[in-house]
Amino acid sequence: MSVNAVKEDEQLTQVAQRVTLFRLLRYLLGYKKQIAAVLVMMGISIGIILANPLLIERAIDVYIAKKDAHGLVRLGIFAVCLNVLLILLIKARMYLMAKISNQVLLVIRQELYTHIQTLGFSFFNSRPTGKILARVIGDVNSLKDVLTNCVTTLIPEFLTICAVVGIMLAKDWRLALAALLSIPLMIVGVWTVQSRAHIRWQIYRKKGSNMNAFVHEDLSGMRVVQSFCAQEQTQKTFRQLLKEHGEAFVNACRLADAFGPIVDFCWGLSTLLLYFVGVNRILDGRSSIGVLIAFGSYISMFWHPVLNLSNFYNQLITNLAGAERIFEIIDTPADIVNQENAVSLPGISGEVTFSHVDFSYEDGIPVLKDVSFQVKPGERIALVGPTGAGKTTIINLIARFFDVKGGGVLIDGRDVREITLESLRSRLGIMTQENFLFSGTVKENIRYGKLDASDEEIIAAAKAVHAHEFIMEMEKGYDTVLKERGAGLSVGQKQLLAFARTLVSKPAILILDEATSSIDTRTELLVQAGIETLLKDRTSFVVAHRLSTIRSADRIFVIDDCKIKEMGSHFELMEKKGAYYQLYMAQFSQIQ
Ligand SMILES: Nc1ncnc2c1ncn2[C@@H]1O[C@H](COP(=O)(O)OP(=O)(O)OP(=O)(O)O)[C@@H](O)[C@H]1O
Ligand SMILES: [Mg+2]
Repeated sequence: MSVNAVKEDEQLTQVAQRVTLFRLLRYLLGYKKQIAAVLVMMGISIGIILANPLLIERAIDVYIAKKDAHGLVRLGIFAVCLNVLLILLIKARMYLMAKISNQVLLVIRQELYTHIQTLGFSFFNSRPTGKILARVIGDVNSLKDVLTNCVTTLIPEFLTICAVVGIMLAKDWRLALAALLSIPLMIVGVWTVQSRAHIRWQIYRKKGSNMNAFVHEDLSGMRVVQSFCAQEQTQKTFRQLLKEHGEAFVNACRLADAFGPIVDFCWGLSTLLLYFVGVNRILDGRSSIGVLIAFGSYISMFWHPVLNLSNFYNQLITNLAGAERIFEIIDTPADIVNQENAVSLPGISGEVTFSHVDFSYEDGIPVLKDVSFQVKPGERIALVGPTGAGKTTIINLIARFFDVKGGGVLIDGRDVREITLESLRSRLGIMTQENFLFSGTVKENIRYGKLDASDEEIIAAAKAVHAHEFIMEMEKGYDTVLKERGAGLSVGQKQLLAFARTLVSKPAILILDEATSSIDTRTELLVQAGIETLLKDRTSFVVAHRLSTIRSADRIFVIDDCKIKEMGSHFELMEKKGAYYQLYMAQFSQIQ
């Protein structure tokens, strides 16, 4: 990950908004009955809202004109009942819709999370964690309004507009035309604004994502930041990101805020035209006061939804930018997946073969070239070589974190691509350069290696790798809650816990990518003993920095220049006086 990956904008994607919207709305199909109930309630509500002006027209033109007080009261009571029903329907509809959209959000978030877990290293290498977090948390939240409002704003407001236009045309088409003459003007105005607003909202989201990623990285690396007294520098960067985020928001808002005034202007124009034409028609005796007042209500019933829709549209394009970002992740294909005909290998004996393996992370920069070797079950291999030579890479290929570019990696004579990932990895015990501990108790962390391990198994594993002693010295023994990432434990202690975690899983093949970090001598002895226990009776690959581990290996592979330069036991290689001898003299002779 380059340093700038945090601050750089992710690439702008141009996906048709309609496609994204329909894809999002497809999630609602799972709730057909509830949506139908919402739509029925909405239909009745719209009916009541539309009937109101007709009731007023009737009150004026019939009851008031004929001075029929009883009729007027009856009409009034009827109108009140109808409108109480309207309020109840709106409340029920809102509740139901909130429930549905919450459910959909849950499904989307789960889908996103599950998919992210299948994605390979290359995905995580190319994205800062903070940016992934921004999508899983922030972007998903922003979809709630889209989902709710699509059903509760888009559909009813659209229906209302159609119904109002229909009623107005039926009652008096001349008045209707006068009232609606400014629509084309509005369409042109809104269209011009929206096309630009979408891009600006996308930029705003990306700036938010940058800020998120920066804060996440800064918090994770706080110790480094503080030890290098880099707070001022990071604050400056943060201020810059904040500023960019704020400016992007203002930029988007400036444009988006033009929606309202455009609609307001057209609304005013319609009202003016309506009264101009209406009054003339009343004077000519071709229309009544009741009709004009009803039209006055209808005109606001028309423009109000238009205003709501334009606001909704505004919100929609903001939030669809979030949906696009979510679908982009969901659509990222997992690069390492089970092949269709992959088999489960329950009893792996632990034979590992590399057959003419070629590999590179980036095209054109080979890391391994035509590497071949065969390791018998139970054999102990030490991988040595200069930094960046490809030791971790060999391990990554055995565990199939990456696929080879040429040749094949075989376990028990089977290509790893023909074995299901679950059965492959469950038989591998992998300890990487960073022993990641989760927040939870010591026991839970060890149990992570085998979820159904009993307490006895856990304690036996801890004893075997000599972790038991220091665990018992902790406040609550195995039930001590570890802080995030095992803060409060020494490097050696973390390593011992990782050993125990690996040992409970009883792997057939053990992979240990040792960190070069030095640890105190007492723990060092424990760690060495722990490693011995782990390596016993299983195939093992150890990227070793300890002379004792290297010496005790059955064979040592010296990796350099994209290949295995030398292969053999410590004594054979020392006698050969080749690359291993050089490395040994340079690195280990002093500490013998
Ligand atoms: N994810 C990656 N993307 C691109 N290049 C990578 C990636 N991981 C490693 N490399 C490159 O591949 C080469 C081999 O790296 P590898 O991690 O296997 O070295 P190593 O022998 O384990 O080194 P060390 O002793 O420092 O752990 C290096 O040149 C490294 O820069
Ligand atoms: Mg390495």
